[in-house]
Amino acid sequence: MYDPAGLKSFFNGYGENEWERLQKNLHGRVEYEVTKHILKKHLPPDGHILDAGCGPGRYAIDLARMGYRVHLVDISEEQLRIAEERIGETGVLGNISSFSCLDVCDLSEISDASFDAVLCLGGALSYVRGGRHRAISELIRVARPGSPLIVSVMSLLGTFHLLSPFDAKDFLVNIEDHVEWDPSTEFPDHLNTRPGSNEWHAPMTLYTSGYMREFLEEHGCEVLEIASTNTITSSYWDGLEKITSNPEATEMLFRLEKEFCTRSGLLDMGEHLIAVAETPRG
Ligand SMILES: C[S@@+](CC[C@H](N)C(=O)[O-])C[C@H]1O[C@@H](n2cnc3c(N)ncnc32)[C@H](O)[C@@H]1O
Repeated sequence: MYDPAGLKSFFNGYGENEWERLQKNLHGRVEYEVTKHILKKHLPPDGHILDAGCGPGRYAIDLARMGYRVHLVDISEEQLRIAEERIGETGVLGNISSFSCLDVCDLSEISDASFDAVLCLGGALSYVRGGRHRAISELIRVARPGSPLIVSVMSLLGTFHLLSPFDAKDFLVNIEDHVEWDPSTEFPDHLNTRPGSNEWHAPMTLYTSGYMREFLEEHGCEVLEIASTNTITSSYWDGLEKITSNPEATEMLFRLEKEFCTRSGLLDMGEHLIAVAETPRG
């Protein structure tokens, strides 16, 4: 079940951690670099962009600096407060059209076809769990027909790839306590983590790249590209952080992550999947 009140309270409490997430270590920086790479490739040259599930506004700041007008939406008042503060500090408030505290599943305050591109990055579509169909319908509705929709979600197989640092034995033996899956059935192409399984952040849906494509196509979108972040490195590689003392090695890592982020054989190994689609032309 999707629990909007629980989610709001989780992200209100998460506070500044979300601002720091994309900068505090190499792992977060890879996600940030790959996501910006995909945005630059697919965004229109100018226009009005919706940043839904904007968090503390890192991408909104980049977009505003690039000259776009940006409307920020988040379910958490605290994330929006941090975003407003950070955007104010960077001097790009003039390019922000609005800050709205809304659930992505209900954007009824926003008119149809309001935006030249719509973003929902960093997992709001994972956190809404069963609400994802309502959420994607809303994101499509507020986008201009035929415009880019860029969404990122948590990867099912990429998350499993990270098992080792968790208590893998407990996870494997008691898998039903952690994810909503009955091991006597076939393994699904998307599944929900269980509330209360504290290894997993807020409860969420994990997606395979195949399901991501199917889901967007079911809603009439044409999928243009699927990419993944943190595809060739894991956050739990011993010594990964040591690379940062060498700027050349760090740059090479970013370059390789961007190079390989769309390779079909690797897609499902990344931790976040980023899908780029064209919204239905009507
Ligand atoms: C992990 S953060 C990502 C922030 C930013 N987009 C990024 O990629 O760095 C997820 C954000 O989505 C927001 N969120 C989660 N569920 C949401 C919902 N149903 N409606 C709107 N925002 C939501 C959270 O409050 C949080 O700020």
